[in-house]
Amino acid sequence: MQDAVGVAVVGCGYWGPNLIRNLVALPGCRLKRVCDIDEQRLEHVLGLYPGLEGSTDYDELIQDEEIGAIAIATPVRTHYELARKSLEAGKHTFVEKPMASSSVESRELIDLAEERGLTLMVGHVFIYCSAVRKIKEIVDSGDIGEILYISSRRLNLGLFQKDINVAWDLAPHDISIILYLMGDSPVSVNCQGKAHVSQGIEDVTNMSLNFPNGGLATIHSSWLDPNKIREMTIVGSKKMILYDDTEPLEKIRIYDKRVETPPHYDTFAEFQYSYHYGDMHAPYLKQVEPLRAECQDFLNSIRTGSKPDSNGWEGFRVVQILEASSESLRNGGGSVSIAPC
Ligand SMILES: NC(=O)c1ccc[n+]([C@@H]2O[C@H](COP(=O)([O-])OP(=O)(O)OC[C@H]3O[C@@H](n4cnc5c(N)ncnc54)[C@H](O)[C@@H]3O)[C@@H](O)[C@H]2O)c1
Repeated sequence: MQDAVGVAVVGCGYWGPNLIRNLVALPGCRLKRVCDIDEQRLEHVLGLYPGLEGSTDYDELIQDEEIGAIAIATPVRTHYELARKSLEAGKHTFVEKPMASSSVESRELIDLAEERGLTLMVGHVFIYCSAVRKIKEIVDSGDIGEILYISSRRLNLGLFQKDINVAWDLAPHDISIILYLMGDSPVSVNCQGKAHVSQGIEDVTNMSLNFPNGGLATIHSSWLDPNKIREMTIVGSKKMILYDDTEPLEKIRIYDKRVETPPHYDTFAEFQYSYHYGDMHAPYLKQVEPLRAECQDFLNSIRTGSKPDSNGWEGFRVVQILEASSESLRNGGGSVSIAPC
């Protein structure tokens, strides 16, 4: 039997404890240490998991030779520096979304991991959801036809962030799902938004991703909405899928609906739309905690050298789009091209 991989989690704020809970329970993983510069947060987590060692000093922690992998769940502005130090110390590295504050930083992390033969993974947890996996399976089977457009809404009251706008906070989830489903990167991005509460930090944004085959995806993100909404509609040429992540059981509904236009017509009078209304069905979804599947992929990748599904390049592609969205916001919603990677 192989030795368990020694792991440390950095950042014990809101999200870090979820990673800790999953890593503690994962066979083949030995969560050894947790780190936070805030002693109160550290004490809180050590109270929950008395077997763990705590540290407020990251530079000391990365010297620990019993630790082979580090998971980083700190604010975005710290991701690059912490991940770089982790990779330089020879540790496999998991970093929460978005991967870094710029595509240049993201690319440096990828190069560093590749040079050293280390796993670099990004926390795009939604691509590990059984609902998203099921949608991908349906899309790839051709059952819904060609994807015409995807529209996504992720709305909430808060949680306001101080250093990133709502697109950098919430849209990584939608972007990672859309890239996964489309199997392609957009050629350009447009984004409009407004800062109502904190000056210069948009709390509502509307982003459009334009794909090379003419496909379109729109993402509405907001911290200023009365309801929690996590909805994505995938409109295909044959069928349509509604994915509602707030639904406890029937998260996906497939509608056999479409609109058809006649192939030939000579005059506008002859032109007739034909609406097709068929059945709706909600496929069975296996209940698996996406974060557990994500942590498992990190561990498998460390053990086998395989690339995790949410690898550094996926993180890079998401950051590229976020960066373009910020540029578009600055120029009033104009189109910003995305360089192919
Ligand atoms: N995958 C998801 O669904 C999901 C959900 C929420 C947050 N996140 C991501 O998780 C990350 C953290 O978000 P959060 O909401 O938990 O933030 P948070 O502010 O609640 O927690 C961050 C913690 O990191 C600590 N920290 C900051 N700098 C540090 C350093 N240099 N060394 C050690 N500790 C340090 C802070 O003291 C704090 O306790 C972000 O990247 C965020 O986007 C992901």
